[in-house]
Amino acid sequence: MDFDRYGWKKKLMSQVSQVSPYRAQANALYDRVKHVVPAMEWATFVDDIAAILELKEKHNAVILAHNYQTPEIFHCVADITGDSLALARKAQEVEADIMVMAGVEFMAETAKLLNPSKTVLLPSQEAGCSLAESITAADVRLMRQKYPGVPVVTYVNTSADVKAESDVCCTSGNAKQVIESLKVDEVIMIPDEFLAQNVANETGVKMITWKGHCEVHERFTPQEIREWRKAFPDLVVLAHPECPPDVVAEADFAGSTAGMSDYVASGKAARVLLVTECSMSDNLAADHPEVEFVRPCNLCPHMKRITLPAIRQTLEQLSGKVEVDAAVADRARLAIERMLAV
Ligand code: 13P
Ligand code: SF4
Repeated sequence: MDFDRYGWKKKLMSQVSQVSPYRAQANALYDRVKHVVPAMEWATFVDDIAAILELKEKHNAVILAHNYQTPEIFHCVADITGDSLALARKAQEVEADIMVMAGVEFMAETAKLLNPSKTVLLPSQEAGCSLAESITAADVRLMRQKYPGVPVVTYVNTSADVKAESDVCCTSGNAKQVIESLKVDEVIMIPDEFLAQNVANETGVKMITWKGHCEVHERFTPQEIREWRKAFPDLVVLAHPECPPDVVAEADFAGSTAGMSDYVASGKAARVLLVTECSMSDNLAADHPEVEFVRPCNLCPHMKRITLPAIRQTLEQLSGKVEVDAAVADRARLAIERMLAV
């Protein structure tokens, strides 16, 4: 008897053989995000993911993704992930020809400064940062005039121009160590006022601050954390140090996005509130389905400019090249390298 007289089996087999290896690879990635991405939503991602996998290979490109990127980017197309410090360190070692920064502009500039022979692409020109926009190089020069001899410690969330006017950079992951390494009683710490106040509380070093704030973290309040604790008495609260000091004071732990990630991975908490950007909880929930995440999060509109279609387009067109003005590049690099040496 002819079991395949309509030729269905033959048709099916030929369709299977037409599925590109990238499509098959993309389909298999669903397993990584199945706890946080509904199947219906996944169906809208898979074409772009397959195309991005193919384009990365074609152009010898890698994707670096910050912890605030959405799970389909963070878990499915990124090669390198982490907080700003980890992304900077790992960018230095990239051997591929192209780095696509799934993050914001200052992260892309930092990658370019640390590995200048590579092409760095940023998929959206609107992926800025409220902290970076709060201060200019001229502001830093004026502060130096006002406080002569006081070292300038600059958060990496700044433009290369501002870094070039600084003595050393820091991230939220190493701010305390950088400040302590200077062995002074007073520093100019810019532009994040709250980070500076939080580090002053930790180190006892006097901070001359700037009125820059992260538009995501400044919105959290101590009252809301107290309300969540009332609702969930076993709640463990982890806060980013860009939050106001009275919010950090309510938390069980304060640290960079990598610090929060390590805390969750340590298995010390069954129910967690991350006082930070929303995607952080999604990315950790994908890896730790056993942990319950309470989510009164805030979105970063800049990080959210980076989407799968934007990454695909930047790789198709090799657009969004990041360049750093040669007049400031060497001085900006020095400030970052001093930080990495601490
Ligand atoms: P992290 O260095 O902790 O990842 O923070 C970067 C950032 O932009 C936080 O808002
Ligand atoms: Fe900047 Fe805040 Fe967005 Fe981080 S979360 S990129 S500090 S605006």
